[in-house]
Amino acid sequence: MLLHSLFFFYITFNSSLSIIIEDISKHLGTRTPYRFKYNKEDSKIKYPHCKDTKIWMVVRHGTRLPSAKDILGMNSVLKDLKHEIMFQHRIAKGPLNSEQLDDFEKWSNNLEIEKEKFLTYEGQNEMILLAERTQKRFPNAIKKEYNNNTFEFRYTATQRAQQSARYFTVGLFDKKISQHVVFAPATKIDMVLRFYKHCDKWQKQVKKNSSTYKEQKIFGNSDLMNKTLESVSQRLGLNRTLSLDTVVLMYKICGYETSWRKNHLSPWCYGFDQNRAEVLEYYIDLKHYWLDGYGYDLTYRQACILMKNLFERFRGDGANATFLFAHSGTLLKLLTHLELYKPERPLTGDSMNKGRAWRASDIDCFASNLAFVLYKCEDGDYVLTLHQERIIKLPMCDKELCPLATLWDYFKDSINDCDIGDICRLN
Ligand SMILES: *[C@@H]1O[C@H](CO)[C@@H](O)[C@H](O)[C@H]1NC(C)=O
Ligand SMILES: *[C@@H]1O[C@H](CO)[C@@H](O)[C@H](O)[C@H]1NC(C)=O
Ligand SMILES: *[C@@H]1O[C@H](CO)[C@@H](O)[C@H](O)[C@H]1NC(C)=O
Ligand SMILES: *[C@@H]1O[C@H](CO)[C@@H](O)[C@H](O)[C@H]1NC(C)=O
Ligand SMILES: *[C@@H]1O[C@H](CO)[C@@H](O)[C@H](O)[C@H]1NC(C)=O
Repeated sequence: MLLHSLFFFYITFNSSLSIIIEDISKHLGTRTPYRFKYNKEDSKIKYPHCKDTKIWMVVRHGTRLPSAKDILGMNSVLKDLKHEIMFQHRIAKGPLNSEQLDDFEKWSNNLEIEKEKFLTYEGQNEMILLAERTQKRFPNAIKKEYNNNTFEFRYTATQRAQQSARYFTVGLFDKKISQHVVFAPATKIDMVLRFYKHCDKWQKQVKKNSSTYKEQKIFGNSDLMNKTLESVSQRLGLNRTLSLDTVVLMYKICGYETSWRKNHLSPWCYGFDQNRAEVLEYYIDLKHYWLDGYGYDLTYRQACILMKNLFERFRGDGANATFLFAHSGTLLKLLTHLELYKPERPLTGDSMNKGRAWRASDIDCFASNLAFVLYKCEDGDYVLTLHQERIIKLPMCDKELCPLATLWDYFKDSINDCDIGDICRLN
């Protein structure tokens, strides 16, 4: 029996799954699984004559369930499509093989709308393991013993951020102690972790401005996208061309289901090969570039509030280890504020910018995180920055280990001028 199931696993895993997983799993946009992106090297990060003393980290919640809208889409559009795909393969010879059809046959969705956006089991694990690795790298800044004065944990008023914080502390401390960790009370209006949500000016000028989605729309209507929709439809054996909305939904669910379970590929990924996935990836990147990135100054100007919080911790007496659990929108605006991943020219819908640094699959996958670590050295204070657990060099610094004074000089004006009430007021 064991031999039989191993054999079965070997066949299925080797034939289609591993190849497809390899091809598209790194191009699933904001739904890319963190397990394909993090830095596995987790030994202590040492610099001569320096000691890691403080850490300040922002974390996007781990892998979550889809939104209510996408759950409804699964229950209606994708459920019907599954039957159409199977029917077309019964009446004509389609390109899917019997294994793949089997995967469709077995696909079912029993997600409850009430659990929309909840953190998944995989998301819990992402947080536990992220915490363990981070502590190994910076054992002095992140002590194994919990102390409610030196540790600070905050999350937004959402189940996924709250649970992410919770499981992160399970990774840091032993189970018993993690139950006594004090979390800052979450507030409905959180002007630090989710500053943009209640920024009236940003809501009006960016979020609800149709110009923000113009380039994405152009790309959605392009010849390249039309060909992609045709190709995806053919790969599934359909005799009609699927709409953009349907293919985007398939792409999202392909990302979610691949994130939820290791060694499992969602049948909704069968519509894509790497090239088609990259087209959808660019479509999603266009949205985030204009909504959460370099498109509008106001978008990233607001993130001064996070830099202010960082310097308060590093220059003041507050907590030595600060962990903030937030969202994609928070991380992207902060990355942009730091001038990271800026493409050479604005992303546009008329052609695909293949070499762009702005790529959600890399910079905004589930559990994305940005950490600043304060090193006390013989000749002063330095800051090390890590994104997705990899050391990065900030554009305003000469080296990875950057003097705290250099960073302060660069950001002090925007921090001193960081009045969110002013920045966000509609005149
Ligand atoms: C913080 O820890 C101290 C000492 O262990 C304890 O007396 C105090 O009640 C704790 N504070 C909170 C808010 O739990
Ligand atoms: C929307 O954005 C465009 C620039 O892309 C700008 O000219 C326009 O004023 C904005 N609309 C609103 C309501 O702010
Ligand atoms: C793509 O298809 C849409 C809808 O069928 C159509 O409106 C649009 O003109 C097509 N784009 C191109 C470049 O052919
Ligand atoms: C697709 O196939 C179905 C089932 O054979 C048929 O009813 C339908 O008319 C076909 N649609 C097109 C656009 O050919
Ligand atoms: C917190 O950091 C300060 C400054 O580096 C240090 O003096 C203090 O011992 C640290 N506290 C803990 C509990 O690590």
